[in-house]
This record gives sequence, C-alpha cells and structure tokens, in this order.
Amino acid sequence: MCGIVGMIGNTGAKEVLLKGLEKLEYRGYDSAGLALMHENVNVHKEVGRIAALREIIPAEVDGTIGIGHTRWATHGVPSVPNAHPHQSTTGRFTLVHNGVIENDELIKKTLDVPFLSETDTEVIVQLMEKHFVELGDVEAAFRKTLSDLHGSYAIAMIDSEDKERLYIGKNKSPLLVGLGDGTFNVVASDAMAMLQVTDQYLELHDGEIVILTRESATIKTLDGEVLERAPYTAEIDASDIEKGTYAHYMLKEMDEQPAVIRNIIQHYQNENGDIELAEGVRELVSEADRVYIVACGTSYHAGLVGKQLIERVAGVPTEVHVASEFGYNMPLLTEKPLFLFISQSGETADSRAVLVEVKKLGHKALTLTNVAGSTLSREANETMLLHAGPEIAVASTKAYTAQIAVLAILAYDIARANGKKLPFDLMQELALVATTMDSIMAQKEIFEELADKFLKESRNAFFLGRGLDSYVGLEGALKLKEISYIQAEGYPGGELKHGPIALIEDGTPVITLVSQPNTHLNIRGNIKEVVARGAIACTISMEGMEHENDAFVLPRVEPLLTPLVTVLPLQLISYYAALARDCDVDKPRNLAKSVTVE
Ligand code: F6R
Repeated sequence: MCGIVGMIGNTGAKEVLLKGLEKLEYRGYDSAGLALMHENVNVHKEVGRIAALREIIPAEVDGTIGIGHTRWATHGVPSVPNAHPHQSTTGRFTLVHNGVIENDELIKKTLDVPFLSETDTEVIVQLMEKHFVELGDVEAAFRKTLSDLHGSYAIAMIDSEDKERLYIGKNKSPLLVGLGDGTFNVVASDAMAMLQVTDQYLELHDGEIVILTRESATIKTLDGEVLERAPYTAEIDASDIEKGTYAHYMLKEMDEQPAVIRNIIQHYQNENGDIELAEGVRELVSEADRVYIVACGTSYHAGLVGKQLIERVAGVPTEVHVASEFGYNMPLLTEKPLFLFISQSGETADSRAVLVEVKKLGHKALTLTNVAGSTLSREANETMLLHAGPEIAVASTKAYTAQIAVLAILAYDIARANGKKLPFDLMQELALVATTMDSIMAQKEIFEELADKFLKESRNAFFLGRGLDSYVGLEGALKLKEISYIQAEGYPGGELKHGPIALIEDGTPVITLVSQPNTHLNIRGNIKEVVARGAIACTISMEGMEHENDAFVLPRVEPLLTPLVTVLPLQLISYYAALARDCDVDKPRNLAKSVTVE
C-alpha cells in the first residue's frame, strides 16, 4: 500500500504530482505529502486525502522536480510527522517510500541523529545521509543504502544540491518509470498515475535503481551495472480510469459487469467458438494432479467458487487457501501440484509471499489477475488475465465476477485436457449470464429500497446460503461490512444452529440466497428458524425456487454459474446501505485497494 510519484521536468511539477497522487489514492489515503524543488526543497504534508494536501500548498509554490506520497499507515499513526516525504537531518536528501523495511530498528541503532517520526522511511533517508558522508558520492551512497535494507521498497529521492537528477529504487513494491517527450520524465507506483502525461513506460525489476534526468532514465543494478530495457506502450486508456457521470467508481464498476463477461468470452474463445487458452497454460493444467488456490479477501471468495467449478467440471481435487495463513498451514502437497494465485491487483504481498515459497520448492504457478505485468503475473509461470478494466473502488465487484468467469473457463479447459465430458456449453451460458446481469442492473431501485428497509438503521446482518450460495454469502457480508461498517456474517444455512443463531434477535436482518436446486428446500427451513426468533428475512431466490414473499427473484441461470448473478443484488444492497449511512463508498476507512504489506 501507499503510492508514490515523482517528476523531473522544466515546468511546474505540482499539478502533475497532485493529479498522480489522486489516481493513487486507492493505495492508501490516511495522509499525503509532496516535496517540490525549484531553488530549494519545499515539503508539504497533511493528514487525510489528497484534497486536504492541495488546500495547504500555497498557490505560488511549485517546482520543476518533485516527489509525492499517499499513505496507508504501517509504522506509526496517520499524522503530519509520520507522513512522507521524510528528510535527512541536514535537509540534503528528501525521500518517499512505499513498502516495509524489516531491519529498520537495527539500522536505527547505528544512526546517531534525532528522529522526528515513527516511520521506517526516516531510517532510510538518515542512512542515506550517513553513507553519503562516508562515500562522498550520491549514487554510490544510494546504492549502498538500498543494499543495506531488508524488506520491500519503492523509493524516489531528491538531492537538494542537484537539480538534474531524481534517484529511484525498487524491491518488491511496484514502481514504473514513465517516459516523457525529452523534456521530462516521471515515476509512479502505477501507470494510472502517469497516463495524464505519457503512455510510454519502463518496467523496473527488484533490486534495480534508476537515475532519472529530464532526458534519460538509466537503469542500474545495486552494483552499478547499467541495464538496457526497451519501453512499452500502456494498454489502458485514460478514460478507463475516470468515473464519468457515475457518483462512485463502485457503481460504475458494478454496472460494467455484463460487458466484462462479454469481454472475457471474446478473449478466451477462438473463431470456432471453442475455448482457447495459451499453450503454456494448457501444459500447466494438464500436468496437475491437484490444484491449490491461494488468494485473499474477495479473491479468496472467488477461489471457493473456483474449487467447486474445477472439481465438479474437471474432476481434479482442489484446495483453497487464505494466502496469509499458508506459510504456517502449508498443506501436504501432491506429486504434481498446480498453484493458482487469484489476485485482482496482482500485487498482494500475502499471496506473493506464498508464490516465492512455492517457487523455491520448484512448483509451478498460474496467476489469474486483472493487471498485466503485475508482480504475481511476472513471477508465476503463466497468467490468465481477467480483462475487467481498471478496478478503482476499494470494494471489489467486477473483478470478483471476472475471476469466477475465468475460473469456469479454466475448469473447462482442464476438463477437456483430462478427456472429461463437458456438462454444458459454457460460452453460451456465460452469454446468458451477461444478459441476466443486465436485467438485474436495470432494477437498481429495488435494491436501494431493500437497503433502506433492512440495513439503514441496523448494527448487524447475516447472509445465509447453502452450497455455492454460502460462498456468495461470505462475499456479500464482506462487501457490506467493508463499505457500510455494519457487522455482517456470512454463514452456511445449516451451520447457524450450531452457535450463531444466538445472535438473532428482534429485527436482525437475514439476507438469504436461494439459487441451488439441490438445497433450496433445506435453506427455506433455515429461513423459518431465524424468522421464528425475530429476524427479518430478505430472501433473494432464483426462478423455479421462488416463494411469494421473496424480496427479489433472479432469472434462472445454469446452477454452477449462479454466483455470477446472485452476487449482484448483494453488491447493490451493500452499496446503497453505505450510501444511506453516509459512508465513503469508494474509500472506506482503514482500507487500501492494493495490499502490498504482509
Ligand atoms: C474486498 C477486496 C479485498 C481484496 C483483497 C485481495 O472488496 O477488494 O478483500 O479482494 O485485498 O486483493 P487482490 O485481489 O488484489 O489480491
């Protein structure tokens, strides 16, 4: 988490950096700061969003060189002293950092200077000054400083005595150089922050530094060896990352779901209408005797659905693991395991830690991600892209449905590789799903009313279901709690009576999905149990399984694909509940979109 930007040019850098930081707010938004150099270096920091930072920077202040930061606190509370940029005691070096330094306490003990913040970043900049005093050369000191650090970092540094260079370093945290027109260059955690000024990028690898001037970007190793690398053109369009007429990114992204499913069908189908995956992916999946899915949060919930798809369609045993637990609870592995990483951002540190571990063990990995060129994509053997377009709202919506659709395609391909009979025409059923999604999204006002009726004043809520519906219930509960701050639990219907039913009291909202032909009678029994104890039932069912008082009846889709449509009402209800409670839908408290710390 945290986002950094930097620019070296001939004209005002302030606006480019502030706009860049606004695009990076999804990476953290509890404080922000900017350093601008024209004659001197001016540092401005504020607690809160970029809008708050904008307000405190006097209009006349600008600079041709600058670095900026938006923070998600790891070391120390959100405060002005802890906000970046940080400076060395003499003020010579000014630095922004995204990542976590693991040996900061040890380094700190070797530095005899006063510290003004609780951050690991201040340790880096003070160490830089110490090495500069010893070595007398800024670049050599920068390389030595980075060599001394254990952990993750994306760094941009200004030397107040040098108006010709910015110093950049990367290890494990994302960072890209954006190439200008020969009069400027930029750097940022994500291409989205630089699309306003360039579509030409230089990829950076771990353990590399860049000496950035107005005209050039020189990539070097930490030993000083110069590396050559060709730039590439970004595939995203600046308009993809704008809200347009939507009130929130989340609403826009929910609305995009039918188009995303159609996009996925197009990308994974050949001219004959058959599923076609890259040769490398085919080889990986055909060798596997068991699939180990590793993911976090919403992506983990998509993985639970993916397990059912792979097991039921392809007949290959599949396990799903929360990435942050995997290190301690490493399952027994089969002879030919395939690790399947699911991650919207492709940058999640918990998942990456597992990827590093399994690669050390010599196992193969496939990443499902929305971000081409992301860390989890680069480091896995193969990648399947979600083709969902940038997802900017912190609460994931279209990435979840895209993940399930791509998992279904993968399950089909594994089934085909294993000579299994395919249960239905997947691409045709996915097209029907897209149409069903359209019809649900056209009835948003119903979900607004349901949110108002059931959740506006509520302090807690339950989401029930059986089978696939119970997994979607987990996702519904996560959506609701993260954006509306209502305590929400997702439970398999049958499990409630083993404990959680004690929490049901007069007026407790219970939102239940009824879309599974083999369990719909049982779940109806569970609804009766909670209603008998005072709960108010909000039941979302599927045609053929509906009852008279259900809140909404979904058009029927193939039972294995129901999560693609049952989740939409839950996303919408959560969205409207958050609105009704005056919550910041796109940027809920304490969260960040890309979780790059373990
Ligand atoms: C919830 C949400 C998170 C992410 C999780 C993993 O709405 O977005 O739970 O799903 O942080 O992120 P990715 O998929 O980027 O690895």
